[in-house]
Amino acid sequence: MLKKIALVAMGGLFATTAMAQSDLFKADDLVKYRQSIYQVMSAQATVLGAMAKGDTEFDAEAVHERALNLGNVSKLLGETYVPATKGVKDSNLLDSAWDDLDGMGEKGKAFGGALQELIAVSGEEGFDKKAAAPAIVKVLKSCKACHDDYRAD
Ligand code: HEC
Repeated sequence: MLKKIALVAMGGLFATTAMAQSDLFKADDLVKYRQSIYQVMSAQATVLGAMAKGDTEFDAEAVHERALNLGNVSKLLGETYVPATKGVKDSNLLDSAWDDLDGMGEKGKAFGGALQELIAVSGEEGFDKKAAAPAIVKVLKSCKACHDDYRAD
């Protein structure tokens, strides 16, 4: 019943070549778009985190759904990371990130890997809170690891 197909394309989180479609957006709008994606991710992460901590009732199917949501929205991030957004005032992406795209890409990959694991394990029969908690924490830690290095605040 929980066996859903976990289709998450996490490859190429950060585009290195300009994509024609992202040329359709203004830099300011791309930053709003990016931040909105992160807000959607944050809502999923909040629900997952609360379940891992036991603040809300554990629901295996909901974990799987939230994990899939994270995968679906996070794959849109790549097109918001275009160099034209570098000077946008409201962006909290550190300028230094542009000099270390490989490093930031690694953080993105670590997040993608942790998320893939959560999607896989939460789709298995018998998935329970004991299995969920460490897998969720790993995803949340991967968010923070990137923020620590590449986000201002
Ligand atoms: C590979 C790096 C990276 C990963 C992984 C990452 N973030 Fe972020 N996050 C950023 C950067 C950079 C910004 C700032 C973007 C900007 O302002 O241009 C940001 C911004 C945010 C914001 C603020 C959005 C706003 O309205 O300004 C939230 C909330 C957030 N991230 C949540 C998350 C959550 C939750 C996860 C994990 C599920 C996550 N992020 C994973 C790099 C990352």
